[in-house]
Amino acid sequence: MMNRYAVILAAGQGTRMKSTLYKVLHPVLGRPMVQHVINQIKTVDLDQLVTIVGFGADQVMEDIGSESQFVVQEKQLGTGHAVQQAEGLLKDKDGTTIVVCGDTPLITGETYQALFDHHEKTGAKATVLTTTAPDPTGYGRVIRNDDGEVERIVEHKDATDEELQVNEINTGTYCFDNQALFHALKKVSNDNAQGEYYLPDVIEILRNNKEKVSAFLTPNHSETLGVNDRVALAQAEKIMKKRINENHMRNGVTIIDPDNTYIGPDVIIEQDVMIHPGSIITGSSTIKTNAIIGPHTEITNCTVGEETVVKQSVAKDSQIGNRVQIGPYAHIRPEAQVGNEVKVGNFVEVKKSTIGDKSKVSHLSYIGDANVGSNVNVGCGTITVNYDGKNKFLTTIEDEAFIGCNSNLIAPVTVGKGSYVAAGSTITKDVPGDSLSVARARQTNKEGYATKLKNRKQD
Ligand code: UD1
Ligand code: CA
Repeated sequence: MMNRYAVILAAGQGTRMKSTLYKVLHPVLGRPMVQHVINQIKTVDLDQLVTIVGFGADQVMEDIGSESQFVVQEKQLGTGHAVQQAEGLLKDKDGTTIVVCGDTPLITGETYQALFDHHEKTGAKATVLTTTAPDPTGYGRVIRNDDGEVERIVEHKDATDEELQVNEINTGTYCFDNQALFHALKKVSNDNAQGEYYLPDVIEILRNNKEKVSAFLTPNHSETLGVNDRVALAQAEKIMKKRINENHMRNGVTIIDPDNTYIGPDVIIEQDVMIHPGSIITGSSTIKTNAIIGPHTEITNCTVGEETVVKQSVAKDSQIGNRVQIGPYAHIRPEAQVGNEVKVGNFVEVKKSTIGDKSKVSHLSYIGDANVGSNVNVGCGTITVNYDGKNKFLTTIEDEAFIGCNSNLIAPVTVGKGSYVAAGSTITKDVPGDSLSVARARQTNKEGYATKLKNRKQD
């Protein structure tokens, strides 16, 4: 096999997005567009990957990290000029170079692979990936001669009325003989409607040099959407969502309403999970078998155990065990470790805390910076008072403790194993194991006093 290189074009400002966020960093299902492109292109065995960055370069380089080499295109003078920036890294190498736009997040690794294979098989110097678009508006049109051979690509803005009728479009993805590419790029001019150096002009230049050029027409038109504005961004999100959801459904996940379920590309979902409408599961989350998620639940970077139910709740950066019940309306904040068979009920917030197996925090509580043992019962309205306005402190509730309703546990504090805290207590000192702690004013009843009050004379 020939050496293979890839150049990702990601330097354009993306003016049509009307955004302070760099275009290729706009997320599709929680992952930046350019990252989708890189992940898919990496499924093809590459010898070198170069990303062209410009405006907002630091942020793009940070997001992509060590997966790619970078070249900065100081001024965005067009896609041809962008590729030329990789000259220093690639120019003299033998092999095939694929050029891909950072704003086509839906093209799959299989399509890239098929393009490479076609290109290498035909021995063409350039092969453009094309498709037939129901609405070709805005895309470059593929102009073929009477023999059906590709002659050139004309940009929408430069096209004649007749050329605008063509609905075979340039997807912005090409394979080139590497050396022929850099040679031809020198001849690209900016004499066109946009005053830019167009990469597609390389096709005509090579053809005029009697080199073989080819087109590979993919039937997967929905993959080739170029995201230039937020309308297209929403379309990309919709297509990606459908693709991911159908994949999970084929793998044995029930998704009640796929149009209203948003699952990120890195999420792992095991068989027989059921997902109700309005659920958003993103980041590196794993949902284990027979779990039930939703409705209206947001899970980010969490592991959710087997047979666990999470309803109308939000969970982030946390581990949730097996056969747990979360919600409705619970908030699991980062660094929570919820054991097996735990209950975290309505209006409970858990943050940076461990909750041991079979413990219950059923209603209206805040558990923050706490170590809660197993078989603990935390009564309704309990608060771990973890913050003095400057520092955070730890609360420890040992196994089998029982915290009465509406208690404040003022950290740092420990409630010992098996102890009881009376309802309404404000606990400021450690409670030893096997104790009852009552920390509230004693009740006094004044009998007959109500009548006395009612019969008071008015002044
Ligand atoms: C481009 C193609 C068009 C094709 C379409 C497919 C050209 C001239 N036109 O048009 O034929 O149908 O893609 O989606 O190539 N970029 C740079 N530096 C620049 C300019 C652009 O890195 O100086 C990058 C952008 O970040 C983007 C990609 O190149 O990721 C494509 O640029 P864009 O301006 O979106 O081109 P289109 O007008 O969509
Ligand atoms: Ca584009």
